[in-house]
Amino acid sequence: QAFFKPIQNAAPPSSTKRHTKISVVGVGNVGMAIAQTILTQDLADELALVDAKADKLRGEMLDLQHAAAFLPRTKIQASLDYSITSGSDLCIITAGVRQNPGETRLNLLERNLALFRNIVPPLVKYSPDCILLVVSNPVDVLTYVAWKLSGFPPNRVIGSGTNLDSSRFRFLIADHLDVNAQDVQAYIVGEHGDSSVALWSSISVGGVPVLSFLKRQQIAYEKETLENIHKEVVQSAYEVINLKGYTSWAIGYSVASLARTILRDQRRVHPVSVLAKGFYEIEGGDVFLSLPAQLGRSGVLGVTNVHLTDEEAGQLKDSAKTILEVQSQLKI
Ligand code: NAI
Ligand code: LAC
Repeated sequence: QAFFKPIQNAAPPSSTKRHTKISVVGVGNVGMAIAQTILTQDLADELALVDAKADKLRGEMLDLQHAAAFLPRTKIQASLDYSITSGSDLCIITAGVRQNPGETRLNLLERNLALFRNIVPPLVKYSPDCILLVVSNPVDVLTYVAWKLSGFPPNRVIGSGTNLDSSRFRFLIADHLDVNAQDVQAYIVGEHGDSSVALWSSISVGGVPVLSFLKRQQIAYEKETLENIHKEVVQSAYEVINLKGYTSWAIGYSVASLARTILRDQRRVHPVSVLAKGFYEIEGGDVFLSLPAQLGRSGVLGVTNVHLTDEEAGQLKDSAKTILEVQSQLKI
């Protein structure tokens, strides 16, 4: 006896809602922060988890499944076998080693590059039309590696980049000005790391450009305050890693915001790691770094033409050079 008796003359809808599937590779601190935010924000009909540790993987899957009574219905699966990711719309890669206190993100490259050689090909095999979203560090170089290994067009390979740095920047500015961080528009671009670049001219609060406002009010000291805020952003990860051993919650919300914009075709602008060659006079090779990019269902729709001061343009080129120098040593 079925639990439910169908109503008479029922007819299925002509077009069923698109089934959305997200895969997350790596169920560590970051992967699980992303997974639980995807569930809480109802971003997918299906969530597939992959890792190299079988027990941890099954444990995390069961633990999430046990929350089903409190969450929108989502099919959650996990396996060491990448076939579980088949037909994904978005594949998020968080697998890899993380920084120990004092290590830079670039120090992780050799170890995580080796993992990517085994992770990217099966993701591509089972989801040839997906969008790859790289989180593992060093995220800019590993996004380039994922692009090369996948053979995908560059619009379908994105790094979380400075979307996280920019959210830290917006928090600190909002805290300083006693406003809501969601009313602060501010971009950090370039490397997700020590050479990131704060676009001062992009900062506005409630539509009021901050720098010109400060100049009009002859509040000169604030420029130095803003520079100190950028320094605090660059130090953020090191401070949190020293205190709790890793960062996870902010990146979890940051990546969920990218997943929503992409899968719901929101066409919002995010500072994310994209193939930057040819933009803002960045030359010298195929380099991925963060620029304000419009994202939608097909990935990167375009890169915005934000005004850069000569100083900002120079810093961005330096950031590109830093990444290219590291990249030139790579054997993918
Ligand atoms: P974690 O050690 O907690 O998790 C890493 C996971 O990757 C582990 O579960 C491990 O079993 C798994 N793994 C290792 N090799 C694998 C393989 N071959 N296939 C599948 N899974 C594999 O580390 P955590 O804290 O989650 O950080 C992960 C990465 O994310 C690090 O590289 C970290 O630097 C990066 N990260 C990037 C951020 C960003 O803004 N782009 C922010 C925070 C972390
Ligand atoms: C961050 C490092 C871990 O949290 O990439 O910014």
